[in-house]
Amino acid sequence: MDVFNCIRTRRTVRDFKPDPVPNAIIHKILQAARWAPSSSNTQPWHFIVVKDRDTIAELGRICTQGTFIGQAPLAIAVVMGETRRPQLDAGRALQQMELVGWSEGLGTCFVGIRGEQQTEVKTLLGIPEEMELITVLPFGYRIPREPGTGTPRKPMSEITHGEKFGQALTFAE
Ligand SMILES: Cc1cc2nc3c(=O)[nH]c(=O)nc-3n(C[C@H](O)[C@H](O)[C@H](O)COP(=O)(O)O)c2cc1C
Repeated sequence: MDVFNCIRTRRTVRDFKPDPVPNAIIHKILQAARWAPSSSNTQPWHFIVVKDRDTIAELGRICTQGTFIGQAPLAIAVVMGETRRPQLDAGRALQQMELVGWSEGLGTCFVGIRGEQQTEVKTLLGIPEEMELITVLPFGYRIPREPGTGTPRKPMSEITHGEKFGQALTFAE
């Protein structure tokens, strides 16, 4: 799958086939993260691969914005060490993970984890207190969907500008 096609067809996935994800694919997803750019090449990230069914079920219980994690065959927690821009660096890495997963037939969803849920997930996965838990990404093979379903995008003309803010970019459609 070429890069643009992968970006253009990717959709957030919240339900998964139960089939396990082979280790070779997990390794490829982790390589995609590892080769992401980071501020001053600090590579401040850690990735916790979770396959244990009981742990995954517990993650689904804790993460109320992503209870579907509990039905995924795989979850990968993205954790950042001390760095200037943890959210930006993590975003670069996890988008690469998502796209490589998509190209292999997998889906995922960024799950927001806030407040007390952060503490609970950190305790469950043994994440040191000083580290920042960004998200837990569930991964699993996608259930086929009608093409064109999913969230829409704003029109190009609403988000692009030619030369100066507020001026129309004439080739935008
Ligand atoms: C920073 C961020 C946080 C998100 N948090 C959640 C979440 O907690 N639960 C959820 O179901 N989806 C979450 N999403 C998924 C978005 O709802 C989804 O990406 C958006 O609706 C666009 O849909 P698409 O990814 O299919 O293009 C999050 C996405 C991002 C980028």
